[in-house]
Amino acid sequence: MSAPLGSAPVTAPAEWYRDPVLWPRERQAVFAANWQFLTHESELRQPRSYRADVLAGFPVVAVRGDDGVLRAFHNVCRPRAGPLAKDAGGVCDGYLTCAYHGWKYTLDGRLRSARDFGAAADFDPRQYGLVAIQVAVWRGLVFVCMADNPPSLAAQMAPLDARLGEADWSGLEVALLRHHDLKCNWKTYVENYLEGYHVPAMHPSLDAEIVAEQYCVTVHGKVVLHDAPPRDETAVYDGLWGWVWPNIGINVYSTGLMIERMSPIGHDRTRLDYVYLMPPGEGVSEATLAMSDQVTAEDVWIAERVQENLNAGVYDTGRLSPKHETALAAFQNWVRAAVGV
Ligand code: FES
Ligand SMILES: [Fe+2]
Repeated sequence: MSAPLGSAPVTAPAEWYRDPVLWPRERQAVFAANWQFLTHESELRQPRSYRADVLAGFPVVAVRGDDGVLRAFHNVCRPRAGPLAKDAGGVCDGYLTCAYHGWKYTLDGRLRSARDFGAAADFDPRQYGLVAIQVAVWRGLVFVCMADNPPSLAAQMAPLDARLGEADWSGLEVALLRHHDLKCNWKTYVENYLEGYHVPAMHPSLDAEIVAEQYCVTVHGKVVLHDAPPRDETAVYDGLWGWVWPNIGINVYSTGLMIERMSPIGHDRTRLDYVYLMPPGEGVSEATLAMSDQVTAEDVWIAERVQENLNAGVYDTGRLSPKHETALAAFQNWVRAAVGV
């Protein structure tokens, strides 16, 4: 008797991957509503240290106060929308000072001085504090969320905790940052990350490192785990790749790891922000970087070619492998549920 056959879901329509109208809806319903990786805690240990970034078009800044508390805000000044942090990070003088007209805010977000503003009876500085957003830390990774009532980060990460056991990443440090710009929709790249089906065809050097017959992708809540045992102890990878909805890859190496944020820039541009985390004083090994660069170049190439074909207007929907692409089916359902398409 053969096993009963499962279904091969139909893919989302090509329009999803090229529609500029869908993008503002995704910004709100997918990115603002969920936890976004900002940086590693080692960058924010010192009081007055800050990190700023633009996440799916939302400028944000996280800063540690003199009281030791880590807070996060929209990096948007109240009167005329200037930036409080002009650069990616550093240590401030105890205030967030706007680059435009010099308003100063304390590190808990209160307006301290509206420089040379003039007298106005209807102006109450207490109403012009910075707009706070949520911040949370998981295993040393700092996340922010723009929703007032965000989903529980700890609950979302529980499947990874179960798989990782005691591995402690809070003592690691940022060894290297890399950025890659892609001409594709963010979902085109994410979907490529969510399956190992393409590994033998697209990544021969990675394929040679792992036992491909045992490559297995599983979905746990909104976490996807790829397990692929390394062939031997010389392998760069540790056999585990995690992914967390909506856009974070966690690439575990035999030493350290790399957090891969799949950052949408618009409906047709995506930036990959790679944060390599290693034990203090240890750089990223040449072998690790060579493998990472090669796999990235192969994925960038295929994601951009797929995007060109999605744009061409000759493909509408396709099929998803019931053996290899169940995480894509789950991802497409999460997008559908969030955006209402
Ligand atoms: S916009 Fe910040 S001081 Fe004017
Ligand atoms: Fe790949």
